[in-house]
This record gives sequence, structure tokens and C-alpha cells, in this order.
Amino acid sequence: MENEKLIAEIERLKEERNAIIMAHNYQLPEVQDIADFLGDSLELARKAVNVDADVIVFAGVDFMAETAKILNPEKTVLLPTRRATCAMANMLRPEHILEAKKRYPDAPVVLYVNSSAETKALADVTVTSANAVKIVSKLDSDVVIFGPDKNLAYHVAKQTGKKVIPVPEYGHCYVHKKFTVEDVERARKLYPNAKLMVHPECEPEVQEKADIIVSTGGMIRHAPEHDEWVVFTEREMVYRLSRLYPSIKFHPAREDATCIGMKAITLNHIYESLRDMKHAIEVPEEIAEKARKAIERMLEMS
Ligand code: 13P
Ligand code: SF4
Repeated sequence: MENEKLIAEIERLKEERNAIIMAHNYQLPEVQDIADFLGDSLELARKAVNVDADVIVFAGVDFMAETAKILNPEKTVLLPTRRATCAMANMLRPEHILEAKKRYPDAPVVLYVNSSAETKALADVTVTSANAVKIVSKLDSDVVIFGPDKNLAYHVAKQTGKKVIPVPEYGHCYVHKKFTVEDVERARKLYPNAKLMVHPECEPEVQEKADIIVSTGGMIRHAPEHDEWVVFTEREMVYRLSRLYPSIKFHPAREDATCIGMKAITLNHIYESLRDMKHAIEVPEEIAEKARKAIERMLEMS
């Protein structure tokens, strides 16, 4: 089907199913364009609490759809394709947390929302890149177990002065790992008037050279402070920013910074998911109940 027809069918099915489409800032442009709500992972989690619909089609990766389901157990949450997964979230296993807890029994477990429901069930609180510093600094402990992103752990340790134990030690995002100091130097040379906005999933040496270190939602909020930026995160963020602020210049730091999981979702998948009500996310209640506490604590604290 052509895009125009697909969009018309999606609109018709949305009405029939009383559905809403929520999408992350890294989605393909044509998916961003049909979303009812677009945001970073914190904004999407917040929005999921108050969705006025029976069905949520989640155009993002699996842990985001799981979070929406945990916060809305009575609603149907659909992930348009099972291939939409986060490689970093998949690096963290419950055993990593249990092993760290043996070594640091008094340290709270802080998990990035980029993690499975099974691991969130072992967390005291979840965080996103938008609120990690704030939440860790509020915790009544100088040592925290933190997973799965070691680079966000570095950022949090630096900003809070606390001891942050990364679990697993090697947790990272392969998309953000691509950015190097050479990319920073090239950007400064090519765009001497631009400032650099850097996601905290980037490597420490890239963070050190940033003008601002922010979540994707933070990039949107800070963009009006300057008229030219080089963007160090997944490349579709430039589409999102340029659409919001047509008079500001945004350059991707690398064209090949692409998240395969995010890009797995097409308009056709969204159409098929509404047509066939697939793939419905299910989280066993004993896991959901514990994970919900950690997510709700985050929402209260941020
Ligand atoms: P944000 O919370 O900044 O949207 O980041 C989510 C993510 O997966 C970054 O790679
Ligand atoms: Fe996961 Fe990285 Fe993709 Fe974000 S960009 S969803 S952290 S793999």
C-alpha cells in the first residue's frame, strides 16, 4: 500500500479501536508525522499514566512499550514489530543485579528505564537520562548500583559526586558508542559557530567536550538557546528538532548513528498492528507489580 492509503487506514483503525499512537523521538520521519504523542522516554512514561484510549500503539522499543503496559495494565499495548528492541536493555540480566547486591547490600538499585521488566522488578527506582542526576542526588545513600548504561553511570557519578557501581560493567548503547573525539573535532571545524548537544549515553571523552549533555527531551528544551547545533545522538533527532524549530540549524554529528530497533517500525507495521491487534505486550503481574513501584517512585521523584 502507498503511504497515503496506509495513513488513511491507520486513521480509520485508530478510531475504530479507540487507539492512540505514542512514538519516541528516534522514530522514522513518517512515523513521527502520524504520532499523537512524541517524546523522550520520561515524557512517554508520564503520558502513559493518563492515556485516554483503550489501545496504545507504541512506536518505540520494547522496554518503552513494557513500561506503558506496566503503568496501564488494563489497556492493550501493541508493539508494531517484535524486532523493535534495545540492545543495551538486553545486556542487563537479573544475575548482574543480584551479584552487585551481594557486594553492596545497602546500596539502592537504580535502573535506567532502558531495561527489561524482569530487571526493573529488582530496582528501588528507575530513571531516564532526563532525571537520573536529580533522582540519584535525592537518594539517601552515597553508593548506588546503577545499570545498564556505564556512560550514563559516569555522567551521574560526575554530577552527584556519589559512588556509582555500574551493572553490568560493560553496558552501553552501540549507537552512541560510535561518536568519537574525532567527530567532535570535525564538528568544531566544520561548524565553528555551532554548539554541541550530546546524549549522556555517549562515551565519557565525548561528554567532556560537549556544550550540553541532555536527554532527547532536553535537546528539545535547550535548542532555542542557540541558533546552530551539532547533535550527538540517533540521527532522526535532527528531523524532530528541525521540524520543531525550522529557523535553527541542526547538523547530525554522524549520519550512521542509527538505532536498528527504533528503525524496525514502519507505517506498514503500525497499520498491521492496529488491523490484527498485534503484538500485545504482556507482563506477568508479580513482575509488573514490583516494576510499577520502581517506575512510580521515579515519576514521584522527578
Ligand atoms: P531519551 O530518554 O533521551 O529519549 O533516550 C532514550 C534512548 O533510548 C536513548 O538512546
Ligand atoms: Fe537502545 Fe541505543 Fe537504541 Fe536507545 S539508541 S533504544 S539505548 S539501542
